[in-house]
Amino acid sequence: MKTAKFIFKWIKGNRVTIILVLALMLTLNYIRSLVPLLNAKVFGILENSDTSSLPNFINNLFNNKSIPDQLITVAILIIVVVLIRDILNFILDAEIANASESIGTRIQVAFYKHVQDLPYSYLNRAETGDLIQRSINDVNRFKRFVGHVIPHMFNSIVIIVIFSAQMFAINVEYSLYALLFVPVLFFSSYFYFKKIRGKFTEIEEYEGKFTTVVQENLTGIRVVKAFAREKYEIDKFNDIMSKFTRSWRDINKDFSFYWGFTDLLSFAEILLAFVLAVIFTVNGKITLDQATAMFLLLQNILWPVRSLGRQISEMTKASIAGSRIEEVLNIPTEYKENDGHLKPKITGNIEFKDVSFKFDDASIETLKDINFKINEGETIALIGRTGSGKTALVSLINKMLDTTSGSILIDGIDIKDIDKKYLRSNVGLVLQEPFLYSRTVAENISIIDRNLSMDLIKKVASIASIHKDIEGFEKGYETMVGERGVTLSGGQKQRIAIARVLTKEKPILIFDDSLSAVDSETDVKIRNALKERQSKSTTIIITHRIVTAKDADRIFVMEDGTIKDIGTHEELINRPGLYQKIFNIQNYFKEEGLNTLKEGEAHV
Ligand SMILES: Nc1ncnc2c1ncn2[C@@H]1O[C@H](COP(=O)(O)OP(=O)(O)OP(=O)(O)O)[C@@H](O)[C@H]1O
Ligand SMILES: [Mg+2]
Repeated sequence: MKTAKFIFKWIKGNRVTIILVLALMLTLNYIRSLVPLLNAKVFGILENSDTSSLPNFINNLFNNKSIPDQLITVAILIIVVVLIRDILNFILDAEIANASESIGTRIQVAFYKHVQDLPYSYLNRAETGDLIQRSINDVNRFKRFVGHVIPHMFNSIVIIVIFSAQMFAINVEYSLYALLFVPVLFFSSYFYFKKIRGKFTEIEEYEGKFTTVVQENLTGIRVVKAFAREKYEIDKFNDIMSKFTRSWRDINKDFSFYWGFTDLLSFAEILLAFVLAVIFTVNGKITLDQATAMFLLLQNILWPVRSLGRQISEMTKASIAGSRIEEVLNIPTEYKENDGHLKPKITGNIEFKDVSFKFDDASIETLKDINFKINEGETIALIGRTGSGKTALVSLINKMLDTTSGSILIDGIDIKDIDKKYLRSNVGLVLQEPFLYSRTVAENISIIDRNLSMDLIKKVASIASIHKDIEGFEKGYETMVGERGVTLSGGQKQRIAIARVLTKEKPILIFDDSLSAVDSETDVKIRNALKERQSKSTTIIITHRIVTAKDADRIFVMEDGTIKDIGTHEELINRPGLYQKIFNIQNYFKEEGLNTLKEGEAHV
């Protein structure tokens, strides 16, 4: 029932086509049912009986004709009827294909759009393999069901109804006896396929796991190789594959039994109909042409009855696919009705007021009672141990995550009241793990706006200290990145990600550990170039390095989800605390390094 509702939701838009398809199906199958009647007519002509159940306007064509002429008329009529049947069939198939494609595309687009709008907190923990499985396999299965199985199911029903009606119109008693096995044939399919529904769900789940394993293996292939985990990976794959194969084998065994059994039933049905036809004819209850007509009509019903069973099986599969799609579609998107709609001019003052944050699935708060004010144009360095909540804190600023309590104000306005997309377009964020597309370097830099000039792309690349590296590539800015092109180093990726965020002036810029993979010298170069830019954005730099932090206007020291200290470099190195400790350690290594170098020189 739920599936029916779901299907109805998607086919509503194609109402006219559906009515046309149904009308065509009825006409087509009525015309189809004339073929057995015309075949039987031959016996009527030879026996000179007047019992044909063909409609009058066809029967009248035979009046006052010699037997050879009547036979020729039958032949011509069969050709005409078959021709009309095939033309209608062609139109019907084309209509179904059209409707199917448009319904399928609608589902696919809606699904994809919905996934884009899902909250970051959901996507962050969702299994990619499972989502890929749902958006490709399940959507395709459902699309096939709506566009292929449902029309054929209706067609089977229409054939069964029209053909048995033709039989009953000829002789009720014979039809009742002859169709005795048909319900058995139908119910055996129905109950059989109902029984195996669970196994299909199992297979779907294995398919999802299988996609995840392959996807994880391919994206993490370097880890696999570095740790010589090939055997473990293959074993894991084999394990899922063998479970998957076992489930299919079970289903296929059941299938073989089902087809064998229903083959036998169909054969028994045909035999029964034949014996009955002989008995009824010999007893004079029906004429030879009536017997032939009913026998042929019945044969035409058997296949649709059996395939109705198969179509019901597809229905179970499709309902599973449908519910898996619906499950995702029912997850609320991050855009809620009471979302803010304000689009104020943002200059870059940020204020956190008693902000706390907890991940849905975590037991303790990741951020606790955070209070601070950052002024427009200020540069803040955020330093703290790994896991202290730095990424979580900046993710609150552009509403990737939502505060659990407290409020964040930007230029005095609570970000809850600011339009999410607008806010994000004003906050430039360079992620800790930059993602580059398999496109050219230039395209990767210009993702915000496809029409950026080459001059601007080069300018931002220079600020990010990546211009020289790019010039060094064989095809320069047109070099492909990733799987189809060059493999970039971690530092190169980070710098391309930085260049990307600089293509548009943003009042707020956040660099989440974005310089971790570049050497200290390049780090300084990039920060100096950033300073020289005309616009003065409020800048938050997350880092583990004192050299990166020390030039900031103020430094925030994070510990266990709280801001423990705030001050300038000079202030912080002079009071006991985490910053001083990090400074001492990093300074010690720096001096140690210099001493070692000097000693080395002395030895030469
Ligand atoms: N999706 C999540 N669900 C639950 N807990 C999470 C999630 N993401 C991060 N955490 C936890 O929240 C805490 C803070 O993580 P966060 O990524 O903000 O740290 P960080 O300071 O940025 O660390 P790093 O310097 O390593 O990047 C960590 O303990 C982490 O395990
Ligand atoms: Mg982080």
